[in-house]
Amino acid sequence: MIRAERAPRVFAIVPAAGRGERFAPGAATPKQYAPLAGRTVIEWSIAPLLANPRVSATVVVVAADDRWWQGIEDRIAAAAEGRARADRERLRRAVGGPTRQASVANGLASLQGLAADEDWVLVHDAARPCLSTAEVDALLDALERGATGAVLASALVDTVKRQSPGGAVETVDRTGLWRALTPQVFPYRRLRDALADAAAAGVVVTDEAQAMERAGVAPALVPGSPFNIKVTRAEDLDTAARILAHAEAKHMRVGQGFDVHRFGDGDHVTLGGVRIEYERGVVAHSDGDVVIHALCDAILGALAAGDIGQHFPDTDPRYRGADSRAFLRAVAARMRAAGFGLVNADVTVLAEAPRIAKHRATMAERLAADLGAPPDAINVKATTTERLGFIGRGEGLAAFASVLLDSATRAGAQARSST
Ligand code: CTP
Ligand code: MG
Repeated sequence: MIRAERAPRVFAIVPAAGRGERFAPGAATPKQYAPLAGRTVIEWSIAPLLANPRVSATVVVVAADDRWWQGIEDRIAAAAEGRARADRERLRRAVGGPTRQASVANGLASLQGLAADEDWVLVHDAARPCLSTAEVDALLDALERGATGAVLASALVDTVKRQSPGGAVETVDRTGLWRALTPQVFPYRRLRDALADAAAAGVVVTDEAQAMERAGVAPALVPGSPFNIKVTRAEDLDTAARILAHAEAKHMRVGQGFDVHRFGDGDHVTLGGVRIEYERGVVAHSDGDVVIHALCDAILGALAAGDIGQHFPDTDPRYRGADSRAFLRAVAARMRAAGFGLVNADVTVLAEAPRIAKHRATMAERLAADLGAPPDAINVKATTTERLGFIGRGEGLAAFASVLLDSATRAGAQARSST
């Protein structure tokens, strides 16, 4: 028994040892390995778990005679090549049993010595490829609010009928009725014990919550997406393909920003988060970083969220002499909260002096760090104005910025988390 001396971790278990009898009776390839939108069903199902930094490791439970998983695992390992060892070890494997319940129990047993009693285990069917990142987060958020367990579920909206074998039909009161989806998440030790108890009593449970209910635990029901379908029958694959095609569609937003500051007394200017020694400074309420101010405005513009003055007013004493990188980080957080990520940013500095060429790479690095983007997504360039106008006369300096954002879809979030 391992005692947790740290915040509980989350382990995922993905039962994938079924034969898919209802999908294609007697088929050579089980449904979890059916091709779907350029991958296989199971690759879609595990993607939001592998991409989620809150999930420490994912155990895929495959049949003893499985012939398909190894190839997929090799592909995932190859893609993770060169990444930290801890990152590569996030994908594990266990051998399944004759029922879903037995497969999950085997997955739990494989975590012995790794998971502490109080760690969380999130179980997700390999046959549910349309799970969204938002659903995983909503489920884990329920635990942070103090739930002992949580189940993604969907309240029944249709009128419900029950037909008896004799053909008689009655209407069932749907008040309080939900469809249980996956993932479901419970404490490691309690789930192990509950499944073992159910098995010992000869009770067949069709989900983890049922075993936990027998043990007296009432899980939180967290509303899931109607798109989180289980591929059960052959026609479900087409539905899943349509859902994924829609979910993967990128929404692009473009934004532009501009900022100017006048030169004044001082011995340096700050541009792109880099201090550059100069015979003058800039007149500004904050540190007067025109690169960051233009960039913030471009991102806020793309989000249709106003401008930097609105979010960080220069009348607010908190921002006097402020490090503009804090503004950029706050704007980046707002961008992510709105479901967008940065594709690229291009900034042009207009200044007769100081020269910024040798600082460009450092600026790009710092801006990228604050934005959570790779440095090659950011370009900083500079020009003089041929001694024309206020910039040419050396009265001040300015910057233009353009950005492209895309919606943080599942694939997008994954690509970003792997850079
Ligand atoms: N599962 C499992 N081990 C089993 C049976 C099922 O790991 N012995 C997994 C399936 O692979 C699937 C999930 O449990 O990911 C949900 O089960 P279900 O949708 O019923 O899949 P199958 O049992 O494969 O399908 P069917 O019931 O139609 O045969
Ligand atoms: Mg089944």
